Amino acid sequence: MRKPLRKAIFPVGGLGTRFLPATKAMPKEMLPVVDKPLIQYAVEEARAAGIEEMIFVTGRGKSAIEDHFDYSYELQDLLKERNKDAELAMIDNLLPNPGEFAYVRQQEARGLGHAVWCARNLVGNEPFAVLLADDLVQAKTPCLKQMVEVYNEVGGNVVAVMDVPKAHTDRYGILKTGKESGRLVEAAGLVEKPKPDVAPSTLSIIGRYILQPDVFAHLDQQTPGAGGEIQLTDAMAKMCGRGRFHGYRFEGRRFDCGDKAGFIEANIAYALNHPKIGGRIRDAVLDFAEQQVKVARPEAAE
Ligand code: UTP
Repeated sequence: MRKPLRKAIFPVGGLGTRFLPATKAMPKEMLPVVDKPLIQYAVEEARAAGIEEMIFVTGRGKSAIEDHFDYSYELQDLLKERNKDAELAMIDNLLPNPGEFAYVRQQEARGLGHAVWCARNLVGNEPFAVLLADDLVQAKTPCLKQMVEVYNEVGGNVVAVMDVPKAHTDRYGILKTGKESGRLVEAAGLVEKPKPDVAPSTLSIIGRYILQPDVFAHLDQQTPGAGGEIQLTDAMAKMCGRGRFHGYRFEGRRFDCGDKAGFIEANIAYALNHPKIGGRIRDAVLDFAEQQVKVARPEAAE
């Protein structure tokens, strides 16, 4: 009998150096896309996929994440006093059910694999999801929900994948592909950040995973990989060929919000979709683009 997927890990222990100085005193996962922090999008996606227990792997300087999902008596009282019912409801919705959230500390940022391993005792012997909040996926059906539907059919390990330009393979975990069927691709192997000339494909893993607990036995080895960090990809690679392991070409658009350009693209995309500010942002974007054309090609302005 396949065990149902009930738990998710949110590794939020990273240092976010690509976003300094913004992330000096604020967690990267609290950066907002329009009006919601990245971590809230990830939590909402997990809820939509039926996840019941959310495990956050935090580190020093990450307490704003815990506060975001907790009571804020002063703010709530003030909103009540001022009859701001919509805002109050929005804040109330953030609160987890008692026991739904758990926090574990990663004392040192030793890599994503290490962060996931820190949650091993809370996960126990059951399948679990991992969501990286800095990978934001805009999709009709939330990405993890799509993956759960696939997982319920094929079981094993399922990771979300997308094609990337060949020149960029050294930024991602890359799949060695086996048989393909529709959106599913068998993972014959995985390599972390291969140089383009040795990359086995251009199919990159994004920050959504459904994994079996066997991965913890490989993470136990604590072997450093690319960049001297303990890589989740290396542990997953050891599971390829030992059971079912699939890449799933998700439907939707992924924004790499750990990177400045990707984060700004996400803000524009979500703002354009926003019912209140979408029109204004559209006009502004068109105006900026027109100004750029005038600067780059003055003759086009005439
Ligand atoms: P990144 O590779 O983006 O690393 O982590 P980072 O440290 O957050 O950011 P940069 O590269 O210095 O700018 C991907 C995800 O894994 C988590 C991060 O919080 C992020 O959600 N992570 C990474 C950890 O939880 N612990 C780690 O040791 C490393």
